[in-house]
Amino acid sequence: MQLLEQLIAGPLRGMEQLEQQIFALRFAQHLPDVERPLRQLYAHLPNYDAWLEKLITLVANAYAARPAELRQRDLRRVHEPDWFQQSDMMGYVCYPDRFAGTLRGVAEKIPYLKELGITYLHLMPLLKPRPGASDGGYAVMDYRQVRDDLGTMDDLAHLAAQLRQEDMSLCIDLVCNHTAKEHAWAQKAQAGDPEYQNYYFMYPNRTMPDQYERTVREIFPEFKSGSFTYYEAFDRWVWTTFNEFQWDLNYANPAVFGEMLDIMLFLANQGVEVLRLDAVAFMWKRLGTDCENQPEAHAILQAFRALSRIAAPGLLLKAEAIVPPPQLVPYLGQGLAANKECEVAYHNVFMVMLWSSLAEQQVALMTHALQQMPAIPSRTSWLAYVRCHDDIGWAVTEENAAAVGLNGYLHRSFLSDFYSGRFPGTYARGATFQFNPRTNDRRISGSCASLAGLEVAMEQQDWAAMDLAVRRIVLLHSLILAFGGLPLLYMGDEIGLLNDDSYLQDPNLAGDNRWLHRPMMDWELAEKRHDGLSVNGRIFQSLRRLITARKQTPALHAEAAARPVWTHNIHVFGLLRESPHGRLLILGNFSDHAQTVPFYRLAELGFDGPMRNKAADETIPAWADLQIEPYGYLWLEKE
Ligand code: GLC
Repeated sequence: MQLLEQLIAGPLRGMEQLEQQIFALRFAQHLPDVERPLRQLYAHLPNYDAWLEKLITLVANAYAARPAELRQRDLRRVHEPDWFQQSDMMGYVCYPDRFAGTLRGVAEKIPYLKELGITYLHLMPLLKPRPGASDGGYAVMDYRQVRDDLGTMDDLAHLAAQLRQEDMSLCIDLVCNHTAKEHAWAQKAQAGDPEYQNYYFMYPNRTMPDQYERTVREIFPEFKSGSFTYYEAFDRWVWTTFNEFQWDLNYANPAVFGEMLDIMLFLANQGVEVLRLDAVAFMWKRLGTDCENQPEAHAILQAFRALSRIAAPGLLLKAEAIVPPPQLVPYLGQGLAANKECEVAYHNVFMVMLWSSLAEQQVALMTHALQQMPAIPSRTSWLAYVRCHDDIGWAVTEENAAAVGLNGYLHRSFLSDFYSGRFPGTYARGATFQFNPRTNDRRISGSCASLAGLEVAMEQQDWAAMDLAVRRIVLLHSLILAFGGLPLLYMGDEIGLLNDDSYLQDPNLAGDNRWLHRPMMDWELAEKRHDGLSVNGRIFQSLRRLITARKQTPALHAEAAARPVWTHNIHVFGLLRESPHGRLLILGNFSDHAQTVPFYRLAELGFDGPMRNKAADETIPAWADLQIEPYGYLWLEKE
């Protein structure tokens, strides 16, 4: 308790007694969760106790600096801890410049977001990147400044406040695995300062890099080979998992942990409510392993969470770990850390399965793969999405493929062929991203609409094909909206924006075809959103109707159990959701033909008798086989 007294006499001195008491309560509540992971990481270091005291003082400083309005919002969140799990949550993801020019421009677009029913806005990287190529802003040189052309940190805080007024939460990226080589820490390291060299992984020769490279995966094999870069100027090999200009941070050094925590709380105090923690799987290196998903990477996240809960308990941590299913679930917390790691994580497996089912027109792999995934802790949620700014990597395991009679390798090849447009007769138009000749792995770039067939159909002026493409787009969204996590709509998908190859004109972007699906918002096209006869209007209105339906269906709360079920029709995906608010059977037909789910199967699942389709607000005739139109979907609830 000595430390607490010191804090009250120190950083918390000017605060009202009640505010000090709140801090003391949180401190007591979270201290065990702070100490468990931090001991695991750093207890062996000399001066561990003194370092921990400094760290907690940093947290107390952040609490004292937290604006009153945000502290009040924290209280609201603490009293309503499931706020992000509720069915009225709806996310939107965009690049601020591509969506609206600047941060002020984004504020002007709030009415558009409201029209869609958005309550959560993820603005893609906006902290000051290195000049020139910056991996879409994922190479940050200053975490406390906003990218010049977007505005200032004050603009960001102001935008967050405007969003709060409209009950929307702001999410931004925190690139915590690496910095740009232009970051001040990296600059000092380059100048030879040993203190800052220890912020990164730097080696005088190839001995260690060679050993590590025996087991680590190459993430961007087309950009550069290997995970290390040699710099002649200071004669060192530096760990660079992604691009040459992105230097991996060394979290074995507690100073790095402290710096990142400080940045986190600084951003939270600007009004950021969700931090998307980038590339968290890579945050700890261990010789002889793939250096991904190490127990220490989880400990870092758990410590971040417990410490931020003391200063800013309204803050959510979102894990970006695009890893296979068994490694993915633990980011939401396991064992003692259940509900105590990240609150939300991208469900990349579900996303991949949606596209896999669409290509195959069958749902066996998706049903099986999702059945294999363990349930997640009650106070966490998946992020369900159809597309994002990144490529699609075919996270299909050999075991899951084999279980449904597929060969994993061949199936992944088929999917790459199908979506890159090579497969005979495919409707999809995408591009191959990062072909790895050693493994034959090929990932896919392309916008939702182009991958779903809209681009080819429009080019050919084929109305029937356009109709099918629209149905595919809406089907995929109907499933992310009903999955039971927080759904994310990716900018432009609501009006069916196609691939955009204008990035080829910009030398800083031309080498990375992920820009194909990072278009500028087409506001002229968006004008058509109310014209239900246009393709764009049809997509927009269908999605808006589904979003409204979702908000009116409390049984879609993320906490409810969701179980993929066999529908006795190989083309129809089924998801059974059981919640205190009721039971739902979500159905999606992945075939371009009408399909039937037999009545006896519906009855077995408890869906006989009169039912309501919440997705279209219609009554379903009871006691009969259920006909589902091509790419049709239903959210069934018993009347
Ligand atoms: C994440 C981002 C991706 C970026 C990478 C490196 O995976 O989503 O766009 O290239 O991290 O920062």
